[in-house]
Amino acid sequence: MKIHGQAYRTIWLAQDGWRVCVIDQTRLPFRFETVTLSSSEAAAEAIRSMVVRGAPLIGATAAYGLALAMRADASDAALEAALSLLGATRPTAVNLHWALGRMRRVLTPLEPGRRAEMAYSDAALICDEDVALCRAIGEHGLGLIRAIAAERPAGKTINILTHCNAGWLATVDWGTALAPIYLAHDAGIPVHVWVDETRPRNQGAALTAYELGAHGVPHTVIADNAGGHLMQHGEVDMVIVGTDRTTATGDVANKIGTYLKALAAHDNGVPFYVALPSTTIDWSMSDGLRQIPIEERAAREVTHLAGLGEDGEVHSFRVVAPGSPAANPAFDVTPARLVTGLITERGVAPASAEGLARLFPEQARGA
Ligand code: MRU
Repeated sequence: MKIHGQAYRTIWLAQDGWRVCVIDQTRLPFRFETVTLSSSEAAAEAIRSMVVRGAPLIGATAAYGLALAMRADASDAALEAALSLLGATRPTAVNLHWALGRMRRVLTPLEPGRRAEMAYSDAALICDEDVALCRAIGEHGLGLIRAIAAERPAGKTINILTHCNAGWLATVDWGTALAPIYLAHDAGIPVHVWVDETRPRNQGAALTAYELGAHGVPHTVIADNAGGHLMQHGEVDMVIVGTDRTTATGDVANKIGTYLKALAAHDNGVPFYVALPSTTIDWSMSDGLRQIPIEERAAREVTHLAGLGEDGEVHSFRVVAPGSPAANPAFDVTPARLVTGLITERGVAPASAEGLARLFPEQARGA
């Protein structure tokens, strides 16, 4: 996607051909800065501190983190150490384990002398594949937006609500939930996006609004609690969100608050879609509520807010009464019964074991 007129992916190799560049997402939307990672430890810290975030980008960064580790030391012991360091960074997004598992299978049988080169080439492939998967998700989601537009009076704006950031910043390019929106906008379909601010880290207000603004897509940031009210008043035609882990039965973990949006959508007959590449499906799980690990993050993310001060600098402000404890579960699980459909790279599936198995028979058989 383009920022300041220049095309970017969210992760790329530096000029020297081995260090890894990423956009520092903790500085957006106020500063567009890049960070250069030169070790697996730096890659792990970038994931942990959310310099990079979003399920597919976490997976891609972990893959390059492993390549950095293999460049430094390609022994069996170093491979295992890097796999466990990177695998322990964030618990909910399954793309992390998907990417590391794939790299482990590729690298383990190789002579150590060949591992670094192969790790770089597989990390690059993971990135290219992610771009293709997201683009395909965009095409399938575009079909859904077109279908809704066809039911409305000609030229009527389609209002789409999204939660958190599942745009190009969360992937290598295009995004998942936002990919259909970009394609619809580019195709001349009038779309407007309700952007949930997404407390506590405000990925909606900071990242989704930034992306949509840069692409010229009409949007409005709303407080997280506004979505249900807008749905009751017919102001939302559909919801599209991303996911960090989807079970083989179609339960969906996504940013905290997604479940409440799904409940409100269900109550108001608003279609609730989840967009995901198959790399986000955990074929080993069948009960999202009981099995998906939910990340618990620091209370400070709830007690403090970051914002741009009058002096043009970014400051952190306390917004909770001093002394009051805060809890910070980062994700929740939306049961499959509340999901209208899963928008994948192979098409739109009902959120059910049968629906997913029809689209991905080879995976479902192996699960
Ligand atoms: O905590 P984050 O910012 O990594 O959470 C991101 C989300 O919840 C996204 O919706 C999800 O990763 C899907 S990204 C295509």
